[in-house]
Formats: sequence, C-alpha cells, structure tokens
Amino acid sequence: MSSLRVKRIGVLASGRGSNLAALLKADLTPAQIVCVLSDKAAAPALELARQAGVEVVQHLAPKPFAGDRTAYDASVTAALREAGVDFVCLAGYMRLVSPSFVADWRGRMINIHPSLLPSFKGLDAQAQAIAAGVKLAGCTVHYVSEEMDAGEIIAQAAIEVLPGDTALSLSERLLPVEHRLYVETVQKLVRSTATAQSS
Ligand code: GRF
Repeated sequence: MSSLRVKRIGVLASGRGSNLAALLKADLTPAQIVCVLSDKAAAPALELARQAGVEVVQHLAPKPFAGDRTAYDASVTAALREAGVDFVCLAGYMRLVSPSFVADWRGRMINIHPSLLPSFKGLDAQAQAIAAGVKLAGCTVHYVSEEMDAGEIIAQAAIEVLPGDTALSLSERLLPVEHRLYVETVQKLVRSTATAQSS
C-alpha cells in the first residue's frame, strides 16, 4: 500500500448529514472534502454538500445493482477514484459495505459510531446503551473493517448518562460531541500525514 495521504476526502452519507456539516465547516487544511456520495436521493447530506460547493456531489442508486453489494460498492469506488479521493469518511452511511470495498480503502476509510465500541454495535446504539443501564455513553471513530463497527479504534469521547435519559435525549446530547470528535480526529489524521510527507 502506498503511504497514507489525507488530502482529497470523500464522504459517504445516507441521511441528515450533521457530521458531514461539521466536517464541511471545519478547517481541514491542507485537505478538503471534494466528493460527497449518497445511496439515498433525498438525503439532506447531498443538499448540504451542494450548498457548500463540494466539487462532486452524487446520488448513486443501489437499485440497478439488484442486491449485488460488491457491484454497487465497485461503482462507489469508481466514483470516489474519478473524484481523486484518497481518504473516505463514513458519516451516517447506512449500508453494510462489502469486503472488496473494505479492501479497496483499507486504512483509508473511517466511520463514526454513537457508542463506546466495542459496546453497542449496529443500529440504535444509544437505545442499546439506555437498555443496558450503562452510566457512560459516547462515540467512537474507527477504521472500517470487514466486520461492522469492529475496526481499529482511533478516538473516543464519553458522556455521562443522566437519570431519566432516553435514547432521544442521549442522542441529542451526544451529537455535538460526535461532531467535535470527528472533526478533531480528521484534523489530526490530515496533519499527521501532511507532516509525514514533508519530512
Ligand atoms: C450519527 O449518530 C453517527 O454516529 C451514526 O449515524 C448518525 C448520523 O448522523 N453513524 P448525521 O447524518 O451525521 O447527522
């Protein structure tokens, strides 16, 4: 694998896009977000990206691939490469990615998950945390590997679960913490790879 470079960032998002918005607002110099792709045509994330003037903003519909995850993911990789992307951030991307997609982007693709991994993988992580009665919740930025939400952990932030918290109130309190952690983590990766290249 050639050396890691985080300069032209691609973001994959399926929904609201608040983490994308935080990344778009942040100073990621010398990197920038050059491509935002979504599997959902109506994802507000696409509109956010258009408004921010991202070079390539595209909806890639999974339907024509008739459930062939590998083929769909190959089209995502092709679009990312076409845009010159060298690093991928998943931000509320609701699809399970195929092993070949992970191989294409190994060590160059990260995700944010709203729990302190390895606890509460998968959907509704905040509801899982409430149901388990934990006193600390949080979020995790990790590399994406074949197994869902199980790749190497890069950074975590914790918050207290308060008496009376619901999945919703916990999610609302966690969201700004996610935004901060994702931005800081990407900034650190950008700067460490930029320094490594210039030295
Ligand atoms: C966030 O909670 C993120 O941790 C999870 O999906 C949610 C996406 O929210 N992976 P948004 O689309 O970034 O607002």
